[in-house]
Amino acid sequence: MANIVVVGAQWGDEAKGKLVDYLAQNASMVVRYGGGNNAGHSVTVEGVVYKFHLIPSGILNPDLECVISDGVVIDPGVLVKEIEGLKARGLSVERLRLSSSAHLILPYHVQLDQLQEISRGSDKIGTTGRGVGPAYADKAARIGIRLGEFVDTERFRARLEAVLANKNAQITKLYGAEPLDFETIFVEYSRYAAALKPFVTDTANLVYAHAAEADSGVIFEGAQGSLLDLDMGTYPYVTSSHPIAGGACIGTGVGPTMIDSVIGVAKSYTTRVGAGVFLTELLDATGEYIRERGHEYGTTTGRPRRCGWFDALVVRYSVRINSMTCLALGHLDVLSGMDEIQVCTAYRTADGTEISHFPPDLAFRTDLEPIYETLAGWNEDISGVRRFEELPPNAQTYVKRIESLVGVPVATVSVGAGREQTILMGDVLAGTNRKRVLCP
Ligand code: IMO
Ligand code: MG
Repeated sequence: MANIVVVGAQWGDEAKGKLVDYLAQNASMVVRYGGGNNAGHSVTVEGVVYKFHLIPSGILNPDLECVISDGVVIDPGVLVKEIEGLKARGLSVERLRLSSSAHLILPYHVQLDQLQEISRGSDKIGTTGRGVGPAYADKAARIGIRLGEFVDTERFRARLEAVLANKNAQITKLYGAEPLDFETIFVEYSRYAAALKPFVTDTANLVYAHAAEADSGVIFEGAQGSLLDLDMGTYPYVTSSHPIAGGACIGTGVGPTMIDSVIGVAKSYTTRVGAGVFLTELLDATGEYIRERGHEYGTTTGRPRRCGWFDALVVRYSVRINSMTCLALGHLDVLSGMDEIQVCTAYRTADGTEISHFPPDLAFRTDLEPIYETLAGWNEDISGVRRFEELPPNAQTYVKRIESLVGVPVATVSVGAGREQTILMGDVLAGTNRKRVLCP
């Protein structure tokens, strides 16, 4: 096996969870390396849907270690609920490990996330309102509370007292809202701390041990998407962490040469939740058709997702910034029933110049329009197809055209949410296996 990063190649919701669950069948560990419960990862096995916000999508595979590593921000109440939910469905969480260095999302983060959004008015980002941004801000400001401190009652009390005084000053004086009560938070969160304590450990060491072992393989489960990356995405309409493949190193303590391959996950079209530039967005009946067929409503917030055509510049950019080995192309079944499908192959500037690379200032460009190539659609329901050659010829052409536009091979084509609704493209996936020779 190999150490593989699964990364979102667009603006999130690409069905990373499905691919992680699929790859986990041959791995020994799955690690969530960034983000928080702004993520919503769905896995469907034998018709049963599981939705995860924090727990790694590999948890359904027995004998697999699942880690929430340093780079993740953890809302303890949400995590406890997720653990209880799995137990109630008869699933074991014994193999779950939480990093003592992971930062917490506390009630003041959630409140500040929402207050900040309101105060931004028409410039609001459209965050998930889960406190993710404020928690990462505290981490960078070095006033965050980490899981290791949280499970030490006296340390947690002292840290919470100090930080809450500061946060309440912000909440009341800056935003005119009601202060949060220390005792209420402390009592409720001490319960969560007790529930999570058995899972807390030094995960960096654990992940390294698996990553370095020749016979095992680690799947690094990305959350969000490359275009939501704090540095590489469409800032400021981004999340506050590093969803890109490099984030797997930052967030777990494993160095770049330990990663064997990077699989990017992309939809056969594009979606985005929240505000920000989206050149190929369809604000018409076609966009509505995609939204309804693709069930494009947020797993976390239920918001309708913005839908549009596949933007090859976006994914090609993702290929570059992630050193992507290959692409897992999903939701192809959603496009059935269309006469024509369009793919954006370049942008045209106001003076007529064509650009074929993703511009770093895209978030603020108002002079660009997408240039489309039109491909023929297909009508057949393809959700039952398991071999590439059995896809309608136009669907095959579509996949091959995307492959040539983005510049890396397509490894899998997904035609539905089920684990089995995955078409393997020759041995591309096998080619992602470990190539390097480990030192003894
Ligand atoms: P998964 O892992 C899609 C978006 C939000 C908003 C921006 C900032 O399911 O792909 P935040 O709450 O992170 O501060 O919001 O990022 N966003 C996502 N969009 N999928 C996600 O996760 C997302 N996580 C955050 O909609 O635009
Ligand atoms: Mg999601």
